[in-house]
Amino acid sequence: MDIGIDRLGFYVPQKYIDLVELANERDVDPNKFTIGIGQSKQAVPDLYQDAVTMALESADQVVNEDNREDIGLVIVGTESSVDESKASATYLVDLLDLPEDVRAFEIKEACYGATAGLQMAYNFVAMNPDKKALVVASDIARYGINTPGEVTQGAGSVAMLISKDPHILKLDNKSVYMTRNVGDFWRPVFSKTAFARGKYSNEVYVDFFKTLWEKFQTKYDMTVQDFDTMLFHIPYTKMGLKALRTLDGNIPDAKYKELEEHYQSSIEISRNVGNLYTGSLYLGLISYLINGDVKPNEHLMLFSYGSGAVGEIYSAEIKSDYKKYLDIEYIKKELNDRKKISISDYEDIFEKEVENGDVTAISDVHDKFYLSEIKENERLYKKLE
Ligand code: HMG
Repeated sequence: MDIGIDRLGFYVPQKYIDLVELANERDVDPNKFTIGIGQSKQAVPDLYQDAVTMALESADQVVNEDNREDIGLVIVGTESSVDESKASATYLVDLLDLPEDVRAFEIKEACYGATAGLQMAYNFVAMNPDKKALVVASDIARYGINTPGEVTQGAGSVAMLISKDPHILKLDNKSVYMTRNVGDFWRPVFSKTAFARGKYSNEVYVDFFKTLWEKFQTKYDMTVQDFDTMLFHIPYTKMGLKALRTLDGNIPDAKYKELEEHYQSSIEISRNVGNLYTGSLYLGLISYLINGDVKPNEHLMLFSYGSGAVGEIYSAEIKSDYKKYLDIEYIKKELNDRKKISISDYEDIFEKEVENGDVTAISDVHDKFYLSEIKENERLYKKLE
């Protein structure tokens, strides 16, 4: 039985900052941000938005009358959780009118969470072929104003509907994974911003890729020639390139050139959005599906990495008529209709916090789902009708 991604949704906040303007404000050569890091724009979530509202937005794009009643599992992968106890997925069941007979929960392991969810969803559908699973990656990457990580912030969510006979991506059920207890990046419960040993995190990421890629080739007796495209977790667009470059000189030049060209198509959206944390790999997939010169039934390698650290490489096949099932025009419009804000407006939003007793004014809301108020320390969400 074929199992994989049947539908994909993507949400990006409406506001963004220009990273040349950020560089000028921080007294940094803009080329460092646009070439050295490889980022052009960065999404800025509004105060009424969080991991829950963004998850609702992308999930709303994939749930419809034809599949709603079949969904039996809802997983939100996030490291931007709004509650230490209650899972974001419970709000999705409510506001998307999903049936009550679902398992709904949240998964955390930095940027690896959505991949963990996807693999669980695969097993769930294998055991329950008539059911579907909703896996949503939703995060806000925050390092802090004027920190080295600031240029690698971002926000957004990706939703994936997993089913048998998928229309977008068939998972091959071939994967290798590994875990090591490393201190490359972390966010203690008291902190709204992450701590990172930046250069060390880059080294661990590349080392995980090299180790897993060796493991994958040995386990399945496959080589780079078995793949048309390699997709990477993209905390910033230079990062995946650093991993890809470890193949340069070790594989035929023509193959490396092909992979690098495909990589460029996979980072076009991330370059203009920033780090989605656990959604980043899947935003790379969406970007490649929209911008790449995709051949029928292409074979992909996907490298998932979550600091801390867990990594996984797995393979998949793009379904030849995927374009009928991915709303490319919607995603393009979403990206194009965004509004640039000034660096000082971004700093104001960044430093403000919604507090107990606050109520969101409807006139401030530009999205379908929003945090309506915090009452008795409980976050309440609504859908704009
Ligand atoms: P930094 O110290 O500000 O930058 O931190 P740098 O000095 O390393 O420079 C960056 C690049 O710009 C270098 O290129 C420079 O040469 C170049 P590289 O050697 O890397 O190829 N450069 C220039 N290029 C053109 N013109 C110029 C110029 N000047 C310099 N004038 C760092 C950069 C990414 C470390 C920092 O932003 C950071 O700490 N970010 C957060 C951590 C991170 O994203 N790590 C990635 C791996 S870990 C991961 O992916 C997991 C994660 O997503 C979290 C999770 O799992 O949840 C982060």
